[in-house]
Amino acid sequence: MAKPHTRYVCQSCGASSPKWAGRCESCGAWNSIVEEAAEALAPKGQSAKGGRKIDFVELSGPSDELPRAVTGIAEFDRVCGGGLIPGSAILIGGDPGIGKSTLLLQVAARLAAKGSTIYISGEESIDQVRLRAKRLKVDQAKVALAAATSVRDVLASLDSTDRPDVVVIDSIQTMYVDTLDSAPGTVAQVRASAQELIRLAKRRGFVVFLVGHVTKEGVIAGPRVLEHMVDTVLYFEGERGHHFRILRAVKNRFGPTDEIGVFEMTDRGLAEVSNPSALFLAERRGDVSGAAVFAGMEGTRPVLVEVQALIAPSPFSTPRRAVVGWDTGRLAMITAVLDARCGVSLAGADVFLNVAGGLKVIEPAADLACAAALISSLTQTPVPADTVVFGEIGLAGEVRQVGQSDARLKEAAKLGFSKAFLPRRRRKQASGDAPLELIEIDRLAELVTRLGGDSTPHRKRA
Ligand code: TYD
Ligand code: MG
Repeated sequence: MAKPHTRYVCQSCGASSPKWAGRCESCGAWNSIVEEAAEALAPKGQSAKGGRKIDFVELSGPSDELPRAVTGIAEFDRVCGGGLIPGSAILIGGDPGIGKSTLLLQVAARLAAKGSTIYISGEESIDQVRLRAKRLKVDQAKVALAAATSVRDVLASLDSTDRPDVVVIDSIQTMYVDTLDSAPGTVAQVRASAQELIRLAKRRGFVVFLVGHVTKEGVIAGPRVLEHMVDTVLYFEGERGHHFRILRAVKNRFGPTDEIGVFEMTDRGLAEVSNPSALFLAERRGDVSGAAVFAGMEGTRPVLVEVQALIAPSPFSTPRRAVVGWDTGRLAMITAVLDARCGVSLAGADVFLNVAGGLKVIEPAADLACAAALISSLTQTPVPADTVVFGEIGLAGEVRQVGQSDARLKEAAKLGFSKAFLPRRRRKQASGDAPLELIEIDRLAELVTRLGGDSTPHRKRA
């Protein structure tokens, strides 16, 4: 009997069967069975039966310093950990239309000046890509372009030519392996296609970029399967209607994570933004209540953003809590701490919180700035315009230390701020040369008093 090309594997328990079923017979999970290729398209070396003996070596020993290819786009290179490592696989995820193809075409054009670069488009025709290249003014770059979706064709072409240095696959959801029956874009196809492409990239030592669209649930298609297979995962994010785009490293085997690169989408493609703080604060009005400037850190870089809050009497029995760019759970926590520890009740009020500019803030250090914006909106007292705020809030109403305060303060000083609300510092010596007036806030109630609120335990009406 001929060996079947595919098998069906339960993603929860790993049981495999020759046919698909809605429910796994072993573990009883529903909808967990996914088609998988039983054997690789381009197997390398020998099968397990005639397996070759592996040489083991000592942990210490000579290792080559990995040469990195730099694009010259500083915001991009930094997010990649200082450049691209040959043989690495990089996944770029993001919502459709956010600018992934634009970014990669610009990157490919830069890399083409240094080595052979291939751009394979599965989504757009040659003409469309050429038009974009013209618009981006990179049409003279020596990028080899093809429109293809069959992984078998792509592998055959990449294996037969001279070794390319960089290959862009746009997007992995359009690629298909012909040994699987599933449609392109399904978990099985995405995983099998990525596996084949990554294997070839490792073997031949080229950098492969895989573009992945993020599905509605916010995961790159195939329940994050791709994230484990690649060396680097970058997310390209931004709010629709805003020009800012943020490239964020969430995994990097060859560099730090949590770095961001900030870009602005212009009519001639993505432009680097080397001073994001200035950009995020550009439209700030200093004298309004309900706003506070948060001195945040994104990776190694300080970024100042404005946090805005609006508190309004709610016409509904269940008041609304809407948050853009921050965590709803942390907002709930802060309103609870304000209520329980500072006597500031937001019950019966709608609360809206917005991080201006479209940045998503994930640091707990933003707690104090969000609280300042909330209190300021409630008391109608503006936070002084020359003040930055940072600090984490604990459930007991205490303001906790956060890392890298010196970098935050330095950036604030650079942008012309003269005061900072911050947690009490353990290390006093650095404050001597701090260019700002430091106002240490030990408990959240102190901030309430400073912003014109009444923090005695009797209830304040929202
Ligand atoms: P695109 O790179 O096609 O997004 P993705 O590959 O992530 O789906 O970008 C599409 C958007 O970018 C589209 O709405 C038009 C806009 N855009 C510009 O504003 N300026 C430009 O120079 C280009 C090429 C695109
Ligand atoms: Mg695209």
